[in-house]
Amino acid sequence: MIYCVAIIAIGNGREHTSAYVVALSAQSTAPGRLPYHVNRITNEEFMLTTAQRAHYRRDGYIVIPDFKPADELARLRQRAEAIVDAFDPAESRAIFTTRDQARASDAWFLGSDNTVRCFFEEEAFGPDGRLKQSKALSINKIGHAMHDLDPVFEAFTRDAKLAAVARDLGLAQPQIWQSMYIFKQPGIGGEVRWHQDATFFDSTPISVTTFWFALEDATLDNGCLWVEPGGHRGPLRERFLREGDAITMEKLDGTPWPDDSTAVPLEAKAGSLVCFHGLLPHYSAPNRSAVSRHAFTLHVTDGRTAYSPRNWIQRDASLPVRGFE
Ligand code: FE2
Repeated sequence: MIYCVAIIAIGNGREHTSAYVVALSAQSTAPGRLPYHVNRITNEEFMLTTAQRAHYRRDGYIVIPDFKPADELARLRQRAEAIVDAFDPAESRAIFTTRDQARASDAWFLGSDNTVRCFFEEEAFGPDGRLKQSKALSINKIGHAMHDLDPVFEAFTRDAKLAAVARDLGLAQPQIWQSMYIFKQPGIGGEVRWHQDATFFDSTPISVTTFWFALEDATLDNGCLWVEPGGHRGPLRERFLREGDAITMEKLDGTPWPDDSTAVPLEAKAGSLVCFHGLLPHYSAPNRSAVSRHAFTLHVTDGRTAYSPRNWIQRDASLPVRGFE
């Protein structure tokens, strides 16, 4: 006779769930002996604690300190520096000098969907069109396919621990559509207004989840994230649509953005991972401090949901979308 049972043991804040086949036999029921022998058939270990998973469901985000070691952070920073160093500002200077600035800016942005490009901070240039500070201190971000195209970023992304976190958050078939290296430069690091990431990565049903890594300490002074706990249970307010070379922001819902009464800052030490739901409203203030606030982000949907063909990033067989493995 064979029975299946689930045994849960909790220790050190981690949860281990194992399924066992328990076989009972007449021979094993001798006095003083356990009346069964046990064969383990699966052994699933959760990366996140029960409390972390409950927090994510309730508030729409979790902060996991000490997720990435210092050497991995340093490698990513060095690689980002090298990409910026190799970047010729003339490639995108048109954005700041042409009369049709919005259109040139859109083209530079749309062309970065499945490549690696640098973007300047809005306040990087003076009235004379020259950089106000060094190029290295003028870049807003690098985007948007380093996780697939750059070996250092790929190694950072393809991490078994990350795959486990994604699984614990409910992403059964993770698909990583976008990566961004965000500099939030000292003095000129721009504000990122309130938004929801599902605006840019729509699917039916909505599944996009953001993985946000603090590469440096993120503080109130240098423009840490702000979120509205529980706000992921609200509606999607806007949808960012691409049609060929044209982009539009479609208004879907008039629910106001959070204010100081409901928003909370997420200060995070370097190495922390912040995960948040695609419907969670979030924001970051300008960085007027003397120190930068580098971060790396990944935007991930679940392959079981229908990814919108109107999202600005699409993939085909030449660069298939992949998960964490
Ligand atoms: Fe965002």
